Amino acid sequence: MTWPPLRDELRGLAPYGAPQLDVPVQLNVNENPYGPSPECVADIAASVAEAASTLNRYPDREFSELRTALAAYLSKDTPHGIAPEQVWAANGSNEVMLQLLQAYAGPGRTALSFAPTYSMYPEYARDTNTSWVAGRREDDFSLDLDHARALVEEHRPAVVLLPSPNNPTGTALPHDAIAGLCEAAGEGLVVVDEAYGEFRREGVPSALELLPDHRNLVVTRTMSKAFALAGARLGYLAADPALCDGIRVVRLPYHLSAVTQAVALAALRHEKELLGRVDDLRAERDATYAWLIEQGHRVAESDANFVLFGVFRDRHAVWQGLLDRGVIVREVGPEGWLRVSIGTPEEMKSFKLGLSQVLEEAS
Ligand SMILES: Cc1ncc(COP(=O)(O)O)c(C=O)c1O
Repeated sequence: MTWPPLRDELRGLAPYGAPQLDVPVQLNVNENPYGPSPECVADIAASVAEAASTLNRYPDREFSELRTALAAYLSKDTPHGIAPEQVWAANGSNEVMLQLLQAYAGPGRTALSFAPTYSMYPEYARDTNTSWVAGRREDDFSLDLDHARALVEEHRPAVVLLPSPNNPTGTALPHDAIAGLCEAAGEGLVVVDEAYGEFRREGVPSALELLPDHRNLVVTRTMSKAFALAGARLGYLAADPALCDGIRVVRLPYHLSAVTQAVALAALRHEKELLGRVDDLRAERDATYAWLIEQGHRVAESDANFVLFGVFRDRHAVWQGLLDRGVIVREVGPEGWLRVSIGTPEEMKSFKLGLSQVLEEAS
């Protein structure tokens, strides 16, 4: 037996993660480029100091105050409102979705998504011994509802994972596709992953609106993107209270530290300011999309804080050329495509200049 004695299916696998390189222009992991204001930093620091004086005790296992604050925040996106008992949270939405599979998938059950899709999903399936099925998206990365429904009816998945807006393409799903898949899934859960939900374009609704009609619908969100809080690790979901109760069976006790809860609550008090940059980022995204089209690239329409573009014969060479100029983007998605996260106007200027130079040199 080789050392260490890993599970057979994990042997030789590399841990997930984009390269963390010390590069001046970081446009590879869809972070928010704008840090919190001094007032917000001071509030977070004071809240952590207060929590620090109680760290001899375990935190509130039910994170009641945070659930209430998250429910109030989500209620702004649906006329039906969201109650605290419909909310669950964990250390990033990755952990939220892993917990969903731990509770509702597992051996003998299947998780399903439509490629290209978020690359962590098959890892949640692998780590929970869940079978994995990937359907396909169309050439424009939309979902063919007939294909999607047929695949769901064929495999009867315990969990369908639907990122909307999708990563890496930026494509948002219309309500009728989500509602149709909720119906096709029967007792199976349909998880609409709205990690980038706050960046959606005007008129694109949130799946939160559909919650009263489908008890198998789960909508996940994160504070890592629009809230500019990737370092704090706070993801959450809204769903039927019974589904939240089911997750409590598999969560580790006290999984959300007192420090995490204090930071998230402080950030929610500064919601207006932290989300204040979302409109700037959407405008920069639309400008980046238009510029890439102008340059003759294929570009996926985006409702997120990134844009997928291509198609390059040797995308790695383009990625490397940008890196050599101090700009890191992500090599992800279908062969030949690259994904650029939306940064500040100065960062996007460096990206455009770098890309123009790389392509000129190659021609
Ligand atoms: C589609 C999607 N879902 C979920 C996540 C996980 O985010 P976090 O664990 O930081 O909440 C990401 C991160 O990039 C993502 O792209």
